[in-house]
Amino acid sequence: MMKVVTTIQALAKEIQAAKQSQKTIGLVPTMGYLHEGHLTLAQTARAENDVVVMSIFVNPTQFGPNEDFESYPRDLPRDTALAESVGVDIVFAPNVEEMYPPQDGGIRLHAGEQATILCGASRPGHFDGVLQVVSKLFHLTMPNRAYFGQKDAQQVAIIATMVRDFNFPLEIRVVPIVREEDGLAKSSRNVYLSGSERQEAPAINEALQLARDSFLANGDADSALAKAKAHIQARTHAELIILNY
Ligand code: PAF
Repeated sequence: MMKVVTTIQALAKEIQAAKQSQKTIGLVPTMGYLHEGHLTLAQTARAENDVVVMSIFVNPTQFGPNEDFESYPRDLPRDTALAESVGVDIVFAPNVEEMYPPQDGGIRLHAGEQATILCGASRPGHFDGVLQVVSKLFHLTMPNRAYFGQKDAQQVAIIATMVRDFNFPLEIRVVPIVREEDGLAKSSRNVYLSGSERQEAPAINEALQLARDSFLANGDADSALAKAKAHIQARTHAELIILNY
């Protein structure tokens, strides 16, 4: 029977029991509103560990002031049912005060250069917040392995750097992207797309495939980028912002 715990103390009891019986622990950190991508992470963790812990916590410190923290989709009853269906043993679903007590001081982790490009370029502080919550989750659950989706490739790279630089005694397992039938990567935020945006969204994956194929064929990054750009412009109403690195 899966357990749902909401306090650090209750989680610590479960972790202590697992450690005492020499059980391996797999951690699947999530912000909830689970989709097949999360469930694949949990299934992979299930196959590789004795105990699977899934955290469900919409982490305020990784949202910018104008981002969607308040409106981020949440549905704990549905999430716990789904987690149980894929064999999760413990769901850790704390509230904000539990994770960040008001008396906490100002010690923060700072993601380095890796956070200045791609998504990080337009979301200052986002990856610092991710590192803050993930490092806490690592300390609280002491996992042997932690599972992240390849969809968030920059996040995975930055967390792997933290694990290396701070000597966390665990293995990061990266699980392939799960896609909708038309190629759109599954994501909790896909619910924000309007009907027409949802129809246009697979063009992003198509454009990436075109760019990859083009680059593999002739090694020319500029023409690969041009093909991706042309595809998105032809198929969508998206505003294209090309950042040069
Ligand atoms: O990828 C996510 O859902 C979040 O960034 C994570 C890793 C659960 C940290 O809040």
